[in-house]
Amino acid sequence: MNRSEELQAYVAGLFAAEDAVLAEIRREHRSLGLPDIAISAEEGRVLQVLLRAAGARRVLEVGTLGGYSGIWIARALGEGGRLTTIEIDREFAAVARQSFERAGLSDRVEVLEGQALDILPLLEPGFDAIFLDADKEPLVEYYHCSLALLKLGGLLLCDNAFFNGRVVDLADRRPDIEGVRAFNRMAATDPRLLATVLPVRDGLLIGVKLAE
Ligand code: DHB
Ligand code: MG
Repeated sequence: MNRSEELQAYVAGLFAAEDAVLAEIRREHRSLGLPDIAISAEEGRVLQVLLRAAGARRVLEVGTLGGYSGIWIARALGEGGRLTTIEIDREFAAVARQSFERAGLSDRVEVLEGQALDILPLLEPGFDAIFLDADKEPLVEYYHCSLALLKLGGLLLCDNAFFNGRVVDLADRRPDIEGVRAFNRMAATDPRLLATVLPVRDGLLIGVKLAE
């Protein structure tokens, strides 16, 4: 380990240890062969601090996968809080429901199955926070839907702002990478949003909605 990795491990050890439930769920998702793209515990803790600071009670996630990130999020919600999470893959959604059950969070999490772009326009606006962590090509469309669904002062959070470093490899113009770039540009330049990227894991974009 170099010094920077050592410091990262130091912080993770102090602040972002998984409990037994999260560790077991991560192991189980690996053994089920789910894609190894869930957030890290460090990122989970960052989400929790932000959600608590915002007093978030009503949160939306796009891209449930097996529910690992959803557990971090749902645990950070205030009294009476509710997480709505959208997953396109039927089997991932089933795994996620089991994960929420196992974590004792079923009563505060709703998994909606289907295409995010079909579901988002049907949701009631006024979310305290939205976490985008799904497919990358439609990210600008997710951006517009999210701004419409967030309350003033709400948090926009988006995973994979670095997309494995590929965002700065300008020769690479694949549509998913272009989706991440376009999203980051929107978030950086839209006067309705105050945003930045935290260099946590694969880059976590965080923003506050300032205006309608
Ligand atoms: C990809 C998507 C993710 O949400 C992630 O965390 C890592 C990779 C992907 O589409 O490759
Ligand atoms: Mg991701």
